[in-house]
Amino acid sequence: PRTAAVIPAAGRGVRLGPGAPKALRALGGTPMLVHAIRAMADSRAVSLVVVVAPPDGAAEVKTLLDAHALPERTDFLVVPGGDTRQESVRAGLEALPEDYDIVLVHDAARPLVPVDTVDAVIEAVRDGAVAVVPALPLADTVKEVEPAAEPGAPEPVLATPDRSRLRAVQTPQGFDRATLVRAHETVTGNATDDASMVEQLGLTVVTVPGHEEAFKVTRPLDMVLAEAVLARRRL
Ligand code: C5P
Repeated sequence: PRTAAVIPAAGRGVRLGPGAPKALRALGGTPMLVHAIRAMADSRAVSLVVVVAPPDGAAEVKTLLDAHALPERTDFLVVPGGDTRQESVRAGLEALPEDYDIVLVHDAARPLVPVDTVDAVIEAVRDGAVAVVPALPLADTVKEVEPAAEPGAPEPVLATPDRSRLRAVQTPQGFDRATLVRAHETVTGNATDDASMVEQLGLTVVTVPGHEEAFKVTRPLDMVLAEAVLARRRL
């Protein structure tokens, strides 16, 4: 089975503060997107990486790929993304050649995922799961609230789900290609990850162990952590 990775990188990253689109911000001197691409291409099972660029940034992303050393055995494609993450992933799926039957979807915002995590996801799909997510137990207790109209206003707590049954899920998420395509054709509404769309088809999604270093770079503090992880790897 051939495996391709789709990297949605078309988000603006407003929560990170002002500046360039998140995927293009430097981490250890290299754009976050390049780290994310390498993280996928480092897996020997991945033979194609499809990068979904900001709608007006495809040329810039192509230039970026040419400027950085990437594994020669991997093919790369760049396609323009959409207004939502879901549209961006769909654009990536539409660009996939016929002969790929396993697809990973990996956030550009998770530049430091270790290759062992990538390989564990692929292996679980090869073993027959239609959808696989890397997952970790939660440190924080989670509350369901009635969201307030204005940010910062007190919000009544509605429920406290049993933490021992909750998992924080990461990417890459791995899929049987036909299943993910069907999910994107059928499921509407705003999904925050791809696996939930497969769940909505009534199919079983399974977890494999995630990794702390696969965290999502969302807020300014995450950049500090990412720089520290990189510095430690370079020791
Ligand atoms: O916004 P969020 O952190 O959930 O974004 C996750 C990933 O989806 C990021 O890598 C971001 O670049 C990507 N994205 C996208 N197209 C959008 C919005 C987000 O490719 N319109």
